Amino acid sequence: MGAPAPPRAGPGRAPGGALVRGGLRITTPLDNPYGPGPVGRWPLFIGRGPEVSTILTQLTGGGGMRHILVRGPKRIGKSSLLEHLARHHLHDFAVPPPLDLQSLPTAELQFCRLIARISEMIAQKAGPKARTNPLSAEAIAADPIRAFGTFLAEIRAERDLDRFVVLIDEMGVVMSRLRGTSSEREFFDQWRALLNDERVNQHLAFVVAMPDYSLAQLSAEEGGLLGSRLGELGLQVRLGVLDEREARDLITTPVRSHLKYQPGDVERLLAETGGHPYYTHLVCGQIVTAIQAQQRRTGIPARERILVPTAVVDDALRAVLAHSDAFHHVLADSSSATSAVLCAVAAGAGEANQPVARRRLVTLLRRRDAGIGAAQVERALDERPDLLVEHDGSVAIRVALVTRWLRRYT
Ligand SMILES: Nc1ncnc2c1ncn2[C@@H]1O[C@H](COP(=O)(O)OP(=O)(O)OP(=O)(O)O)[C@@H](O)[C@H]1O
Ligand SMILES: [Mg+2]
Repeated sequence: MGAPAPPRAGPGRAPGGALVRGGLRITTPLDNPYGPGPVGRWPLFIGRGPEVSTILTQLTGGGGMRHILVRGPKRIGKSSLLEHLARHHLHDFAVPPPLDLQSLPTAELQFCRLIARISEMIAQKAGPKARTNPLSAEAIAADPIRAFGTFLAEIRAERDLDRFVVLIDEMGVVMSRLRGTSSEREFFDQWRALLNDERVNQHLAFVVAMPDYSLAQLSAEEGGLLGSRLGELGLQVRLGVLDEREARDLITTPVRSHLKYQPGDVERLLAETGGHPYYTHLVCGQIVTAIQAQQRRTGIPARERILVPTAVVDDALRAVLAHSDAFHHVLADSSSATSAVLCAVAAGAGEANQPVARRRLVTLLRRRDAGIGAAQVERALDERPDLLVEHDGSVAIRVALVTRWLRRYT
């Protein structure tokens, strides 16, 4: 099974346009392809090639653990990657629709309830002709992992099915909802046992998404043991920001049949959003909304590609900056020391978002809090690689919009 190449539309095949005497005549209204929700389909889904091939190698390779833990900061694209995998890459497996734990009531997060739900999803995927008896509540209560292993073996033998891949999103809600209770500890102990069970592994691999900060919480609650036990949750695939080419693609490709940007504005959008898919969606979504509103006002449908005015780009950046909720995760999902580092970098970076030399950064930090120094800078770089980057001994915030927000509101 190879990853199919993303279809790359040439000018004549761009959606929404027809090639007319060497130019492009617009034939459809301008839709807004950007939004806050996950996106898995091409051409809107961009990048993640190395992560996809790591996952496919792990799922298709023989022997050893096949489970995957997709981790990363909030809003980096974990759900999008799960959706993308399910839609485009897992045709050699039997794959029930991804399960989002956020959508379940808390009672359903008990390990036994979850096993019952997953087995129902699998039975549904196997189709109505599967004669396998559904997993009984008694069997699950007696020994959930053993019962599940037997169920999988039976259903595959009977239906000659491919191996299953089960995609589970938002595993962090187990932490946030059951936090501090015995159910939480029990859940993760049993989850690890499930992933390590050989009878389960022969038939099924889990691809689970969980945010970094939930893993950090789990680690802290388990007395820092997580470092040594993290492997038991699956092979870690940690998502970061898109690279520059991919970010450029996300800014231009989804709207290429209707809009074009001045080159300087594309560079500015790259600097303002730093390859972070979430901020790119926010700003580009705002730009498309503004152009749609302009078109409605004039009542004239565009016949050819529109050059986006620089003023529209400026307004969109201003509108996103004024929307404080969009920046909530910057500090809410960072430890307090990392929050202090982020604020100090923003203070030192100025309006131009210049990198801050490490020495100067440590001086700035000490002025804020005597207990925070070089070690915390190191930890912050490790904790928030989506926001912080180091080059030649200087630390910078990747997303200029975040710098500006921190300077203005903290
Ligand atoms: N590879 C990608 N290509 C294009 N857009 C993306 C990509 N990944 C994420 N996005 C966009 O970024 C935003 C956040 O994505 P997503 O919801 O998948 O992130 P997440 O890590 O699951 O977030 P959360 O932690 O809130 O669950 C969405 O607007 C989504 O459309
Ligand atoms: Mg998500």
